[in-house]
Amino acid sequence: CFNPVVVFFFKLRCQSFKTHSLYYIYTGLSKDLGLPGIHNFTAMGLLDNRMIDYFDSETQKKVPKQTWMKDRLDPEYWVKGTQSRQSKQQWFEVNINILKDRMRQNDTDLHVLQWMHGCEGEVQPDGNMKFYRGMDRYSYDGNDFLSFDFAHSVWVAHMPAAEETKRKWDDVPVLKDYTKGYMENECMQWLNKFWKSYVCSNIKLRFVSPAPPEVYVLTRDTNIESNISLTCLATGFYPQDIITWIKRDGRKLYREDGLESSGVRPNEDDTFQRRDSVEILRKDKSKYTCEVIHEASSVNVTREWGKNLFLVLTCFSFCF
Ligand SMILES: *[C@@H]1O[C@H](CO)[C@@H](O)[C@H](O)[C@H]1NC(C)=O
Ligand SMILES: *[C@@H]1O[C@H](CO)[C@@H](O)[C@H](O)[C@H]1NC(C)=O
Ligand SMILES: *[C@@H]1O[C@H](CO)[C@@H](O)[C@H](O)[C@H]1NC(C)=O
Ligand SMILES: *[C@@H]1O[C@H](CO)[C@@H](O)[C@H](O)[C@H]1NC(C)=O
Repeated sequence: CFNPVVVFFFKLRCQSFKTHSLYYIYTGLSKDLGLPGIHNFTAMGLLDNRMIDYFDSETQKKVPKQTWMKDRLDPEYWVKGTQSRQSKQQWFEVNINILKDRMRQNDTDLHVLQWMHGCEGEVQPDGNMKFYRGMDRYSYDGNDFLSFDFAHSVWVAHMPAAEETKRKWDDVPVLKDYTKGYMENECMQWLNKFWKSYVCSNIKLRFVSPAPPEVYVLTRDTNIESNISLTCLATGFYPQDIITWIKRDGRKLYREDGLESSGVRPNEDDTFQRRDSVEILRKDKSKYTCEVIHEASSVNVTREWGKNLFLVLTCFSFCF
């Protein structure tokens, strides 16, 4: 993933999207509804709000939801992830029952416990992500129940039934350290890894097939009336290796002949462009051509300036 081209685009993209997020949402139901597609426990990972992994109580397996997840993470990751999801499912069953008891609820109604936690990162100029903020909150039957206040390192109860949990959890320093540490370190490491994998997988996909250049010959006025400038523009090609020649009556022109080149430059859409120009006397009647060879896409084209040159000659100094 880290050849120079990829790193370059990687930085380009980093600048266009400033913050990124990785969240996990777990949902437990107090009873089996017995409806198809409704599971008493589900878990999913979201990268920038796109689902990247999924687990439910029926399949009992954590699975990738994006091809790059499948490609980039080894089987071990999914085995461990599955174990972790299964133990969270048990934790949910136990804890929904505790809350039901605490709120003197019975099995007549359905109750829902949700846990959402994760981190947001801000992209730095060096292309890495820095911790921006974390989130760790529980809701019960759709209402906020308990959340972690990162600034003060305390749990916040959002309903009376949560007070007891707050007191209990505040008294466990290890839990606070773990919650903070998970967000700032582990979660951020995964966010960085996922995000880079995602960006790289995008670039790979787009770059799998070579793109042929479009070739244009352009004519411009220059500062002096007696001269005009000829430009050969090749754009939209990938990969970046390309040969361009401007020829006068079939003879290649070089720097000594006044040829100037932009070199290969990136376009916004991950393809490349190259511009070569030469300044000539307006009255020059030689035949100028531009030859572009892009081997990767089997392109070898030659364009001639003749007609454009004529147009410029006829609309001298009033051209747009
Ligand atoms: C949830 O569903 C699984 C299988 O679908 C079942 O084994 C488990 O007992 C259920 N748990 C509850 C609390 O209904
Ligand atoms: C369960 O709770 C509901 C509402 O709180 C109540 O109407 C119902 O009678 C209770 N059922 C049992 C079996 O206790
Ligand atoms: C005009 O073009 C000619 C031919 O390329 C070149 O020799 C000359 O230096 C140009 N004049 C200026 C002022 O750039
Ligand atoms: C490109 O085409 C020109 C003319 O058709 C030919 O003379 C030249 O050898 C070709 N170049 C390559 C690299 O195929």
